[in-house]
Amino acid sequence: MSKSIDAKIEKLKIIKEKARLGGGKDRIEAQHKKGKLTARERIDLLADKGTFTEIDMLAHHHSTSFGLDKVKPLGDGVVTGYAYIDGTKSFIFSQDFTVLGGSLAEQHGRKIVKIMEHAMKLGTPLIGLNDSGGARVQEGVISLGAYADIFLLNTLASGVIPQISVIMGPCAGGAVYSPAITDFVIMVKNTSYMFVTGPKVVKTVTHEELTAEDLGGASVHAGKSGVAHFVAENDMQALELVKKLLTFIPSNNKEEAPFVPNNDPTDRLNDDLTHIIPENSNMPYDIKEVIKSVADNHDFLEVHKDYAQNIVVGFIHLGGRSVGVVANQPAVLAGVLDINSSKKAARFIRFCDAFNIPLLTFEDVPGFMPGKDQEWGGIIANGAKLLYAYCEATVPKVTVITRKAYGGAYDVMSSKHIRGDFNFAWPTAEMAVMGAKGAVEIIFKKEIDGAEDKEAKQLELEEMYNEKFANPYIAASYGYIDDVFEPKFTRQRLIDTFKILENKVDTNPTKKHGNIPL
Ligand code: HXC
Repeated sequence: MSKSIDAKIEKLKIIKEKARLGGGKDRIEAQHKKGKLTARERIDLLADKGTFTEIDMLAHHHSTSFGLDKVKPLGDGVVTGYAYIDGTKSFIFSQDFTVLGGSLAEQHGRKIVKIMEHAMKLGTPLIGLNDSGGARVQEGVISLGAYADIFLLNTLASGVIPQISVIMGPCAGGAVYSPAITDFVIMVKNTSYMFVTGPKVVKTVTHEELTAEDLGGASVHAGKSGVAHFVAENDMQALELVKKLLTFIPSNNKEEAPFVPNNDPTDRLNDDLTHIIPENSNMPYDIKEVIKSVADNHDFLEVHKDYAQNIVVGFIHLGGRSVGVVANQPAVLAGVLDINSSKKAARFIRFCDAFNIPLLTFEDVPGFMPGKDQEWGGIIANGAKLLYAYCEATVPKVTVITRKAYGGAYDVMSSKHIRGDFNFAWPTAEMAVMGAKGAVEIIFKKEIDGAEDKEAKQLELEEMYNEKFANPYIAASYGYIDDVFEPKFTRQRLIDTFKILENKVDTNPTKKHGNIPL
């Protein structure tokens, strides 16, 4: 009797050992040669030691088509389960390229759906490590159905639990739409790519000859398309980024943003900011210096660093509290708002609002970008996305106007009028319908045309205009800003203000959902 039990236990061990080997030693070696880790090695690096519990290790496909009856690898090309990541309970799937190219079909899809459902019910983040040849050709439409099941759950989980996708190999065809729906996409340089149609089809249809890297590599999606929020040098760095990201975001939409205690004094002065604004208002400065100066331990996790750099978004802790920062960047295109920067900031704001992360806005914006390309490209609808996102956000919203707040952009950048809770300005703030040059050309056209020295007249009127409007005091006199303070007090004021706002309650009218101008 006991002999038979021992034999059964031995059999289980052998089965599990086989499952753990995935596609076998040769394929693991091939994976390593490409500079990639295996699905299990990745989980080992991501999860706190000894905390990963695997589910469905013994699942396999039931297909008999095109020779599949002869290969039934255990796990079906994906490792799924739960673990703690720096103490945060999370569900994880990790596609195993060594098994049938990590291709996705019925069982592989079911395994992912199963952990997604757990993550939603338990309110934990979902981390997807993608490395797959896409829909398993041999299982045909069943593979497509399996993808659609995942897309549906990605959508239902959106705004309920944070979903993070790490692309660590191929991600092609319709498969790209799962990561695209998730909140953050991290791509690994040189070993990952994403595209709807690959280089061969592109060549046939458009006659363009492109490598996979040129078509959909990490730098393309980080800098040009905006599909990727982060780029990592290698698998290890990508997994570290997941851990870092989780220090700023709660596990679900009912939890508060994380509080991370630290030793940076809450009353630390920002003396470095006193002279950061150049004397000449048309000169640039780097808004990231402002963000880092106020942040706890100067630590800023920038999101979408390489995309639409005229706006900067990312996470900091302020007095331990997680805060989402949106800041115009005067060092790039003078910080103007255009199509891409509006889309970038709108998506970030909606993420923060969905997950109870307060919003801090640093404003220095000359307005919206003029021109045919922008108008034809839809700056109206895209700029409206940013306006809409700020308007609907009910999390605590604090704005600091460092310099320019001109035109419609003044309204859009979390102004008082669209439910900014506390709006502040530095003494260097300039708040008006437009800058001096454009303004005097409109309102003093006759005087300038009639003047003997047109240039001198123009300059004289610009100076007069600046004296009258290029300051924060008119806005302060109407209560459009709550206070003007010296730059060096910024950190203390922000910490104090977000603390006061801690228990803020605000709601939107009941509706099925709004109709953001997509
Ligand atoms: C079945 C697949 C597969 C797939 C790879 N494999 N992709 N098996 N279905 N989609 C298998 C290969 O046959 C091979 O098996 C093993 O995985 C490793 O693949 P290789 O080609 O040897 O690896 P590599 O040279 O690194 O090339 C990787 C690759 C290539 C670029 C991903 O495999 C490839 O082009 N695959 C097809 C990609 C694709 O077109 N997928 C469908 C996209 S459309 P053996 O046993 O020979 O080692 C899609 C629709 C989703 O996904 C729709 C959702 C709505």
